Amino acid sequence: MQVVVYPDPVLRRGGKEVTEFTPDLKALADRMFAAMYQEGGVGLAAPQVAIELKLLVLNPEGNTKDRSGERVLCNPKITRKKGREWGEEGCLSFPGIHAEVERWQKITVTYRDLDGTEQSLDTEGWLARIIQHEMDHLDGVLFVDRLSPADRLRVRGTLAELESRASR
Ligand code: CO
Repeated sequence: MQVVVYPDPVLRRGGKEVTEFTPDLKALADRMFAAMYQEGGVGLAAPQVAIELKLLVLNPEGNTKDRSGERVLCNPKITRKKGREWGEEGCLSFPGIHAEVERWQKITVTYRDLDGTEQSLDTEGWLARIIQHEMDHLDGVLFVDRLSPADRLRVRGTLAELESRASR
């Protein structure tokens, strides 16, 4: 399973609601975790592997040594949010780019797990940031859309390099 890199248009398509909570969905989540760990990420959204579903996987530890923080969120929605905070982010679909993004500091997110059971999670800080970053992918929004004007200028060359790699 390959992680899709900018400017692949699939990244802009986002995902559709998950309606079938089948063993196939579990198998897909497992493959997404494997791809995420292979690339050294802490989160991965289905559109990043060219699958247009509202499904994301994450592990704030980012490695297989501690898998206790693994979560799979289907159809996530933020129902409460508080405080804004800037923090550094990267994205497996944007190799070589790290930049500050403003996110909600505290969120409540409701979602369905792999069994289709509704879950609710109150969280803040790093985990809240990962969830918001991955949720953006489900809507076709990318973290470079949220950069400050100064960072947008700073990363322009790297974006152009990714674009020219894609057209070669
Ligand atoms: Co990303």
